[in-house]
Amino acid sequence: MSNEENISVALFGFGCVGQGLYDVLNHSEVLQANIEKICVKDASKKRSVDMSLITYSKDDILDRKDLDVVVEMINDTDEAFAIVKKAMENKIAVVSASKKMLATYFEELYKLQEENNVALIYEASAGGSIPIIRTLEEYYDNELLSSLRGILNGTTNYILTRMELESKDYSEILADAQSIGFAEIDPWLDVAGFDTMYKLCLLSVHAFGVILKPEQILALGIQNVTFNDIRYAREKGLRIKLVASAAKAGDKFRVYVMPRFVKSDDELYKVVYEYNGVEVEGAFSCTQVFTGKGAGSHPTGSAVLSDISALTYNYRYSYKKLKKLKRILGAKYNGADLLDTEFTIRVYIRYDEQKDMDGIEIKNVVEEYRSPGMNFIIADVGFNSLYKFKGNKESKVFICEVE
Ligand SMILES: NC(=O)c1ccc[n+]([C@@H]2O[C@H](COP(=O)([O-])OP(=O)(O)OC[C@H]3O[C@@H](n4cnc5c(N)ncnc54)[C@H](OP(=O)(O)O)[C@@H]3O)[C@@H](O)[C@H]2O)c1
Repeated sequence: MSNEENISVALFGFGCVGQGLYDVLNHSEVLQANIEKICVKDASKKRSVDMSLITYSKDDILDRKDLDVVVEMINDTDEAFAIVKKAMENKIAVVSASKKMLATYFEELYKLQEENNVALIYEASAGGSIPIIRTLEEYYDNELLSSLRGILNGTTNYILTRMELESKDYSEILADAQSIGFAEIDPWLDVAGFDTMYKLCLLSVHAFGVILKPEQILALGIQNVTFNDIRYAREKGLRIKLVASAAKAGDKFRVYVMPRFVKSDDELYKVVYEYNGVEVEGAFSCTQVFTGKGAGSHPTGSAVLSDISALTYNYRYSYKKLKKLKRILGAKYNGADLLDTEFTIRVYIRYDEQKDMDGIEIKNVVEEYRSPGMNFIIADVGFNSLYKFKGNKESKVFICEVE
């Protein structure tokens, strides 16, 4: 591909991200991209583009020999993987925004890049408009990174911010967020921490070279947060944030998603409403913070545009940290073995009945409070035991990391 020429692009998906990309592409004065075709699913929907661009058959795009880039922005994980796989096998460079698909199929996608010598880039999949993946990949290439912490989900940050500022309960703010489009009608993937977990999977590869399957990452969400929890935090000058963490611990890595009390001098404290923020800690660069809009049509579209633009100069992720680890560990390389789960973590646990905490290995109680309206403990607990609560839709326990 040469940046002197117009590049030929085909899109899969014309929803929130697809339309955002279409708009930002039309406003770009630098990138000369021809959109050849747009593949969508529902033939009954009205489209805001010339209908000759629209197709309902993926093969109309994937069988073409004249395409430079396929941009995948659909909301069907398995179908997205099938599209991306075939495009790469046909040696077409791919840009994708689909974090769940990328995280779920990462091993296969990595192999497809190597075997077909073709680019797959996905800046829009984590942190929306924040250019974090390429930054980790390029800027921190030779840097000894020690940790990464981030607010990676705009919906949950929006809910937590409004609960605090308006002194309202979770269900009221969630319903309002749904009515104005800041939360999905089914918010589970966001509020239970899964969306953040997919993004953390991708950031762990680029920060540390660790490939983890989504289910290997402990993800606790904010679905059980109440205004009592927010008030407790506020009284102590803290804010509750849903934080993705990946940190070096000796030769291993601690990678998890959990609500966390953050102090007012913490950079993540200032990241409010739908904004995302990522803090990166390096041995020599010290702390650096990146903030920006984490989702939405135009912010995400602009990240996709930046990827298309990068492909005009034949950009590919080099995965240097992953390759280095694979070189050192050889056939023994296994992301799960690099995960440290044998540590103690200090958490706040708000519960209704003592038995709600069954299974959590409590090692040391630091503070305990019981009243007719609210019970909580702050305790050091075995991290491994928290996996028991992962994905438990019935549990009403709220767990939050304490610094
Ligand atoms: N929204 C965001 O802010 C955001 C941010 C970062 C990443 N993402 C990711 O980007 C992807 C797209 O998100 P979105 O919000 O744009 O979703 P969306 O608004 O629901 O749109 C999804 C699009 O995918 C199309 N589609 C679904 N299945 C298809 C198939 N089998 N073949 C062709 N087209 C198909 C739909 O077609 P119809 O139009 O015919 O229904 C629709 O145009 C998702 O993976 C999401 O996680 C979204």
